[in-house]
Amino acid sequence: MDDMVRAQRCFEALRDGGVLVVLTGAGISAEVGIPTFRGEEGYWTRGSKVYQPMELATRAAFESEPATVWSWYLYRRGVCSAAAPGRGHEAVARMAAALGDRFHLVTQNVDGLHPRTGIDPARIYEIHGNIFRARCSRDCSAATYSIPDRFDDWPKDAEVTDEDLDALRCPACGAPGRPHVLWFDECYDEARYRADSALSAAAGADVLLVVGTSGATNLPMQMGALSAVRNIPIWDVNPEDNPFGDFARRTPGGVLRTGAGEALVTLADALAAA
Ligand code: APR
Repeated sequence: MDDMVRAQRCFEALRDGGVLVVLTGAGISAEVGIPTFRGEEGYWTRGSKVYQPMELATRAAFESEPATVWSWYLYRRGVCSAAAPGRGHEAVARMAAALGDRFHLVTQNVDGLHPRTGIDPARIYEIHGNIFRARCSRDCSAATYSIPDRFDDWPKDAEVTDEDLDALRCPACGAPGRPHVLWFDECYDEARYRADSALSAAAGADVLLVVGTSGATNLPMQMGALSAVRNIPIWDVNPEDNPFGDFARRTPGGVLRTGAGEALVTLADALAAA
């Protein structure tokens, strides 16, 4: 039986019981025009300088060049705001609706597209944050706040002035505001990123569906390793090979070497069919 047919059987069986954990990465949003991190479009040019996301998405970069880092995030926020959830996101929302409290979604994407499909926010773990929100850079609390409308449609490369930085300050204590995203030189935690909850969800999963991630980050890899040890079916949806494919092959699951939208619609249909 080919892997997609086995995956469909697995999702049909979920109708009768079992917990599904979905883990998504940039690949699902690539289908609606949001560049992935490690693809070429992820690079950022400012004047004659070329930055890689791995350089800009750091606490160290923010401390030394807050205006440059904010300009990059504000531009990307506009790209995310202009995008709409695609058929992959909608298919995940159908899975959520079919399973209720037997569903958890762990997403590395900060683009806010999953929440826009109407999934109960309690069931979504945005483990890398959300680009539409800011928080205190001095950690006066873990609370986040909305980025003001004046930053809508931020042009690529536009200069962030001192006045802009003032408009982004923490409303509670007046310290500089920062994007509510996890940077490469920072650690996961529960208060800001629901990291413990995401791992607990994985510990209770009966099926792990991984979509469009290259396996470069720590918590998702822990979820994959844990699920492989528990020997639950892991399904890896990705046109390219990646470490989750290796996990998946060690379990009763497998590798679905196709785009997110196509695979997820098929699996949501299998789950929802009467
Ligand atoms: N369908 C499914 N997967 C796809 C598709 C598609 N149509 N197109 C590309 N992909 C896959 C690529 O093959 C790759 O494995 O999406 C993955 C994207 O990888 P990354 O750009 O590394 O994105 P991601 O894994 O989400 O990155 C993880 O790293 O930069 C940090 O915090 C950032 O959340 C991000 C994290």
